Amino acid sequence: MAVPNPEELRKLQESFRKKKQTCFILGASGETGKDLLAEMLRQQLFSRVTLIGRRKLDLEGPLYTNVCQEVVDFEKLDESAAVFQGHDVGFCCLGTTRAKSGAAGLIRVDRDYVVHSANLAKAGGCRHFILESGACADKTSILLIRRVKGEAEAGVTAAGFDHCTIFRPALLLCDRQESRPLEWLARKVVVHVFPKVFSVPTVTVARAMLNSVVIPGKDGQKVEVLDNATIHVLGEIE
Ligand SMILES: NC(=O)c1ccc[n+]([C@@H]2O[C@H](COP(=O)([O-])OP(=O)(O)OC[C@H]3O[C@@H](n4cnc5c(N)ncnc54)[C@H](OP(=O)(O)O)[C@@H]3O)[C@@H](O)[C@H]2O)c1
Repeated sequence: MAVPNPEELRKLQESFRKKKQTCFILGASGETGKDLLAEMLRQQLFSRVTLIGRRKLDLEGPLYTNVCQEVVDFEKLDESAAVFQGHDVGFCCLGTTRAKSGAAGLIRVDRDYVVHSANLAKAGGCRHFILESGACADKTSILLIRRVKGEAEAGVTAAGFDHCTIFRPALLLCDRQESRPLEWLARKVVVHVFPKVFSVPTVTVARAMLNSVVIPGKDGQKVEVLDNATIHVLGEIE
């Protein structure tokens, strides 16, 4: 992906707005998802934003006029196929941890829910799917989290979107309320040691996701995989 200068980006955003595209977000209640929604509303890139999640979020006020919410049962996602119809772009920031959901739960959320959602979105007409994966993704790995992320990437890629952008951030920097001691410790360390190599703020990921939608991909390149360094470059255009 060719990275434009700020003036070029503003022109691309302006022409994107005129297309009046619609999108959905999976995982809008999470740390990246919250920043993505906030940044999306600030930039007003989409004419309608649908949040698809397992619970309704408390979003009141004029800022959210173009936001609608769909509560789904991810274990019976086919019953909610209609919710995935008619979106131009889909963003997926879903995920859990092994500590929170166990190994089976991690596979279910980070791979099965993600791939199932992608397939329903594709069937519903979505053309560009943006997946937040992880720096460690590797479908051949013997380590569960790496393998699950790699398998999710493969499943989403196989759905056959016109464009698919896979984000592979390193440690996410955010003000997380949930207790994740290892993540907390890693954050304390990486901010002092090569922070741009080993970490990235969720707001930078969110901005990079939006920029990846407005910046045209290379001709003929259906799937793009963005590593942590590229996410920094793409998300920090001022
Ligand atoms: N943590 C890191 O440092 C790191 C680094 C690289 C990549 N990643 C990946 O980046 C993605 C986003 O991470 P994040 O930290 O921003 O996310 P997060 O704060 O953990 O939020 C996860 C989202 O997934 C939803 N979710 C979790 N379990 C669910 C379930 N059983 N059914 C339905 N929805 C469920 C949550 O909904 P509720 O609010 O309803 O729970 C929330 O919206 C994840 O795929 C993660 O693996 C994380």
